Amino acid sequence: MVSPFDVLQLDADADDAQIERAYRRRVKESHPDHGGSVREFQRVQSAYAALTGDAGIDVQEEGTDDEAGRNGTSRVEYLNYEVLDDHGWDFDDEDLFEKAAAADLDPADYGRFLVHPHESLLEAAENRGFVWPYACRGGACANCAVGVLAGELAMPVNTILPSEMLACGIRLSCNGVPITETMKVVYNIKHLPRLDELRLPPRPFEEAHND
Ligand code: FES
Repeated sequence: MVSPFDVLQLDADADDAQIERAYRRRVKESHPDHGGSVREFQRVQSAYAALTGDAGIDVQEEGTDDEAGRNGTSRVEYLNYEVLDDHGWDFDDEDLFEKAAAADLDPADYGRFLVHPHESLLEAAENRGFVWPYACRGGACANCAVGVLAGELAMPVNTILPSEMLACGIRLSCNGVPITETMKVVYNIKHLPRLDELRLPPRPFEEAHND
């Protein structure tokens, strides 16, 4: 895994002030509104969290096998769609998550977290410190779409995804709630060709994380 110092472009003996300055610079450079990508933006956040122990970015919460299913809790294994190209993987690969688990990916790109009963999938990701794409948060765009490869995500509102996409396992994370003990989802799939035309212009999640 790439060192958090490397991600922030710092020497290994950088002090707190240097880490802070580097983080502010890198988070702007990597911001999706300024030519960066969601993946790079999250990597910078994870690096800062690793170096400072920032409680607002809780990337470590994975939970144990025993916790999944307790009191309605679900455990979600996630993978960033942007990683697939880098590794020559395909969305339809049967062993996609096995390959991801063996690839030593950044926590922003691959990992697991628990979703509590009061959380949608998107809310759970955000509450664990991740930045997943969204726009309307109301079931009317495809910006928050995820591909569900295992488990079930129930959506109370969907006015955008046609039945053929639902049949392929595509769901909305902003209001989708896991209803199985475990799930495997590929997030950030808004750039899939068949989802492109259903997206709203970027707005978003960027603003909420642009302080
Ligand atoms: S953000 Fe628009 S449907 Fe989820």
